[in-house]
Amino acid sequence: MNSITALQWRYAVKQFDPDKILAVEKINVLKKAFNLTATSYGLQPLRLVLVQDKRIQEKLMKASFNQKQIGTASHVLVICIENTVDKDFIENHFRMVQDIRKTPDEILHSFRESLIGDFEQKPVDEVKIWATHQAYLVLGTLLTVCAVEEIDSCPMEGFEPKKYNTILELEKHKLEAVLALPVGYRSDDDFFASLKKVRRPLQETVIEI
Ligand SMILES: Cc1cc2nc3c(=O)[nH]c(=O)nc-3n(C[C@H](O)[C@H](O)[C@H](O)COP(=O)(O)O)c2cc1C
Repeated sequence: MNSITALQWRYAVKQFDPDKILAVEKINVLKKAFNLTATSYGLQPLRLVLVQDKRIQEKLMKASFNQKQIGTASHVLVICIENTVDKDFIENHFRMVQDIRKTPDEILHSFRESLIGDFEQKPVDEVKIWATHQAYLVLGTLLTVCAVEEIDSCPMEGFEPKKYNTILELEKHKLEAVLALPVGYRSDDDFFASLKKVRRPLQETVIEI
């Protein structure tokens, strides 16, 4: 499939076939795509929680206004933000840069210190909003990769994050749920599968200068 055919093929699935489970290889592609997504400063203030447990999915479904995608999916990907992006977190990133690229500390030092200073003076809520932007970017990457890999999916913000945090015990990992992406194979009964795409005309959404 070329990229446009793949994007035409995908749609926000409302009901998956619960008997069709994604192969480990497909899940591995999604894990790698998550990790390869670009993030601001490369800091990756995110983690992916991968759920493949129908009992937990039932609980998450209840915390998602009973949207069936969550209960019927092969797997549910929950995109979470780190609730603390502090000096330690940033230093850890720069240690990785040093290890992997062998960049000398003299080169990294001033950027690292300015980033630490910048984050230290930001209010917590501002940092969370910044991290949430990165979560949306990951969602975009995953949606596109799903389409190319012919994995069905549904991007979701329609759930109660606090309940997700409790069900998945995210606090102990210093995480907060931001977005959900149930994945699997569309059900033959999904009415939405046959609906045409509704998009504003291209001439209206693109300005060429
Ligand atoms: C950030 C985001 C959150 C969404 N949340 C939900 C949701 O909670 N439940 C749902 O059924 N669809 C959700 N959608 C799907 C959109 O309604 C859908 O993508 C849009 O109507 C376009 O349709 P298509 O994706 O089938 O082309 C969400 C989409 C995005 C991008």
